[in-house]
Amino acid sequence: MRHRAPVVMLVISLLMGACVTGDFAPPPAVSPSLIASAWLDRLSAQELSMGREVFVSRCLECHTLPSVRKYSRNEWPHLVARMAGRANLTTSDQRAVIGYLRAASATMKAP
Ligand code: HEC
Repeated sequence: MRHRAPVVMLVISLLMGACVTGDFAPPPAVSPSLIASAWLDRLSAQELSMGREVFVSRCLECHTLPSVRKYSRNEWPHLVARMAGRANLTTSDQRAVIGYLRAASATMKAP
């Protein structure tokens, strides 16, 4: 029985490594730099916060929350448009989510 502990430790460290190396990154907060990168879309800080709120609460009902940096600024609008009906988004929800994701993916470019 004494040889079990190292095996357990190895399995645990492998599992932790898998999480760390996965491509999931938590959606970034609505920071000053994120707000600045949304200026082209003319979204206010409140709209961006609402967009983040809708994203983190509604976009994980059917799948895990996609990482904001998985898609670029220009890819997010049509992806969200495709999901809008599924997630029952209003026009203003959709605009806010798109604005948030565009700004977030620009501030968190994949390494
Ligand atoms: C009612 C279920 C449902 C909801 C709610 C939903 N999705 Fe999806 N989503 C799907 C399904 C099913 C697929 C895979 C099939 C496809 O691509 O159409 C998918 C695929 C995706 C993909 C492409 C695959 C990937 O993981 O990269 C993205 C991006 C995405 N969804 C984003 C969103 C966003 C953003 C929202 C919130 C606005 C959302 N989804 C809400 C069902 C849903």
